[in-house]
Amino acid sequence: MVARDPHRFVNELDKTAVDRLVARLESRAKDKVFTRLFDKYADRINPGPSGRVLEVGCGTGATTRALARRGVFSGKAVGVDQSVHFIQAARQFALDEGIARKVDFHVGDAHGLDFPDGSFDAVFAHTLISHVTDPAAVLREMVRVLRPGGTLAIFDGDYASMTYGHPDHELGHKMDVALVTASFNNPRIMRDLPRLMPDFGLKLQEAWGDAVVEVGSGSYFKSFVETYAPYIIKAGLAPADTVDTWLAAQQESMAAGTFFAACTYYTYIAQRC
Ligand SMILES: C[S@@+](CC[C@H](N)C(=O)[O-])C[C@H]1O[C@@H](n2cnc3c(N)ncnc32)[C@H](O)[C@@H]1O
Repeated sequence: MVARDPHRFVNELDKTAVDRLVARLESRAKDKVFTRLFDKYADRINPGPSGRVLEVGCGTGATTRALARRGVFSGKAVGVDQSVHFIQAARQFALDEGIARKVDFHVGDAHGLDFPDGSFDAVFAHTLISHVTDPAAVLREMVRVLRPGGTLAIFDGDYASMTYGHPDHELGHKMDVALVTASFNNPRIMRDLPRLMPDFGLKLQEAWGDAVVEVGSGSYFKSFVETYAPYIIKAGLAPADTVDTWLAAQQESMAAGTFFAACTYYTYIAQRC
C-alpha cells in the first residue's frame, strides 16, 4: 500500500482517528516549544487595525486563535481547512475562548481558495505545506489572495531531518524514514521554497531555523510517535511487530530518561512584490 499522509487525507479518516488528530493539534499548540516558535513570527503577520490575515490549513484553528488572542491583535483572523470536523472544532474552541468575533473559519481547499485576489494583508501556513498534494499550487493561491506588499509566512519542519534515537542504527534509520514517509507528503519542501518563491512573485525577507530537540523525556515527539507510528503499519512500510517493538523501545527510553529525538523547523517571511 502507498503511504498516505493522514493530514492530506483527513476527510477519509474515521471519527476515532480524527478525534485523535484534534487532540494532538491542540496539545501541540500548547507545547511551550511550539508556542515559542509561533510567537517568534506572530508579530510579522499582525495586519494592524481592521486588517485581515488568513491561515491556510488552520486545522482546529490553534494558531489562528493564538494570533487572535494576542493583546496587540486588532484585525480579523480567518482560517481555512479542508476538514469539516476540524473547522467545527475551531469554531467551538473560539466560542469557548470568547474570541469568536475576532476569527472566522471556513471549509476549503488550499489548492483553490474561495477568496478574491488581494483580499488579505497577511497570509500564513503553519505546518501545512509539508502535507498538501501540490505545494506549488498552494503557494500560488496564497500569493493570489495576498495584497501586493502584503506578508506571507510559512512555518514547517524539514522532516527529512526528523530522527529518533535507537541502539540499532540501521533499524533506527529505517524507522525514521518509515515514520516520515507515512506522515508527510512533502518532507523536503522547506529546502525547495527559497528557490521557488521568486517564481511566484515573492521576495524572501527573513528566514531562520530552529532545532526542536527532546533529550531525556519526550513531550512533542512522544505525542508525534504515538499518533503516527500506526500509519507506518497501515502504509505497509514496516511489519507491525517491528513497529510495535521500536515504539516500545521509544517509550521505555522516555520512562528511563534516556530518550532522544530531534527535527529542524524553518520560518520564512516573504513579501508579495
Ligand atoms: C499539521 S495540521 C496543521 C494545522 C494548524 N495549522 C496547526 O498548526 O495547528 C495540517 C492541516 O492541513 C490541512 N490540510 C491538508 N491539506 C489541505 C488542503 N489541500 N486544503 C486545506 N487544508 C489542508 C489538514 O486538514 C490539517 O488540518
